[in-house]
Amino acid sequence: MARLESRLRPRSVEFLANRAHMVVLLAQLEERLAAARDAGGPAAAAKLAKRGKLSPRERVERLLDRDGSFIELSPLCAFGHYDDECPGGGCIAGVGHVAGRLVMVSASDTRIKGGAIYPLGADKMVRAQQIAKENALPTVSLVESAGANLLFQSELFAPGNRGGRGFCNQARMSAAGIPQIAVVFGSCTAGGAYVPGMSDYTVMVRGKAKVFLAGPPLVKAATGADTDDEKLGGAEMHHTVSGLCDYLAEDDADAIRIARDIVRNLTRPLHGVPRDTVQPPAYDPDELLGIVPPDLKVPFDIREVLARIVDASEFDEFRPGYGPALVCGFARIDGWLVGVLGNNGPIHSPAALKATHFIQLCCQKRVPIVYLQNITGFMVGVDAERGGIVKDGAKMVHAVATASVPQFTVLVGGSFGAGNYGMCGRAYDPRFLWTWPSARIAVMGGEQAARVMRIVQEGAMRKLGGAPDADSMAAMEAMVKAEFERQSDPYFATAQGWDDGILDPRHTRAALSLGLEAAWNRDVYADGAPRFGVLRM
Ligand code: COA
Repeated sequence: MARLESRLRPRSVEFLANRAHMVVLLAQLEERLAAARDAGGPAAAAKLAKRGKLSPRERVERLLDRDGSFIELSPLCAFGHYDDECPGGGCIAGVGHVAGRLVMVSASDTRIKGGAIYPLGADKMVRAQQIAKENALPTVSLVESAGANLLFQSELFAPGNRGGRGFCNQARMSAAGIPQIAVVFGSCTAGGAYVPGMSDYTVMVRGKAKVFLAGPPLVKAATGADTDDEKLGGAEMHHTVSGLCDYLAEDDADAIRIARDIVRNLTRPLHGVPRDTVQPPAYDPDELLGIVPPDLKVPFDIREVLARIVDASEFDEFRPGYGPALVCGFARIDGWLVGVLGNNGPIHSPAALKATHFIQLCCQKRVPIVYLQNITGFMVGVDAERGGIVKDGAKMVHAVATASVPQFTVLVGGSFGAGNYGMCGRAYDPRFLWTWPSARIAVMGGEQAARVMRIVQEGAMRKLGGAPDADSMAAMEAMVKAEFERQSDPYFATAQGWDDGILDPRHTRAALSLGLEAAWNRDVYADGAPRFGVLRM
């Protein structure tokens, strides 16, 4: 493989200006992440401490290996929604190592409305399950949940990916041989109760965990009977009477210890993984901050990004002289061999054909694919259309949609229109999709959209025999542009689960490495998996 030659000049005005802009974006990201981590504020923390409980974040931290990796999913889910009362969507999720094994960890954030489930939070958990399923990751759910947030019941009950989909997924994963483990720390009502109910292994904390379909007030209302929490759904009752609790823990820490033991005793992957010796990039990853210009119309070479992500900055570029605006080639990320596609401009026919061929090569040799997006779209105009950009672009989209290897996408700069699709956007099911704070995501740029709307509007008026009024046209153009700007913001996207999180560019290599490790976990259980889930008896 050839060493990439960087032309970046870390002392140049451009680099320093780009870096200064990225540093501002990262400060904003960090501030928003810190607010999400501190959900509920000191009052919620004090309430848990008074009850002798760990906070949901402490539970996740203690479950994970100290020397392992962890990547949190969509920590800014629901950002700007629900009056910002449920940072992260009211739940925490991520992929990390437990007892040396990669697992999907999720936790209800009991600091917010008793861990009640919000609609966007439900979407986030279903996305976490999709990742667990695609990568055969055992799932550990740390639960303490008031069930559906009753103020959003109709949104939560809607069919599709909500309305009980999470429980259905638990059963199907169990049937596919992917273990489901629940640890119950507090009160779990209704939807909260089904998480342990549908799990293969349950751990409950004595005196604290309570699981019931309806709590004492509802039982009283429904049947007239007086009862109390412990009798109705306490951990001890479930351990000795109902059979819902497999392991009785003395406190939160003990419950986590038991959960780690359960993971330790799961079957291990049987296959070897083709991971080569790891070499760090030859160029300093900190320089990733100085590559993307604040104005995405200013081009930059995606190889500069690659040089700071891939092992030894080595890249075996495929057909560099043909369709040069789409860079394709092989490299290693933390020892994992990958095919990479990165944008250096709009995609012309030759680039689309080269990409299609390259994706087929990756599938033929079973190599995962990484897409680095900075793309305004496929080339438009008379020459492009006559040259067959629609049919050639379609070939590339076909290849991406049907690729038989795991795919990963990072939105580095622009991610517009069909360029987003062709470069494995969310709808193409990449195993993970991360966004840099510098990214913009929309069907097209705000300026272009506003101009298109103005031209169409003016044409319509002229057809009706009227003369377009310049002032109102300018006002409409400004309004469309502003709305597009707002909706292209990466926080708008991440809040609604269009990605798996906004990344500090310097963490890209580690995130991809963890995703690649997760992908290699697959097929562990494929042979001999039972055709039914574990039925709780
Ligand atoms: N939907 C919406 N809000 C809920 C909720 C739910 N299912 N469950 C609790 N909340 C809210 C409370 O109204 C309260 O809001 P506030 O802080 O604005 O006053 C907040 O969450 C904390 O509730 P609180 O009862 O003070 O906390 P707690 O720790 O003492 O008890 C529960 C937590 C979960 C045991 C208790 O709130 C409860 O039993 N909730 C009802 C659960 C239920 O019946 N769910 C059915 C879902 S279908």
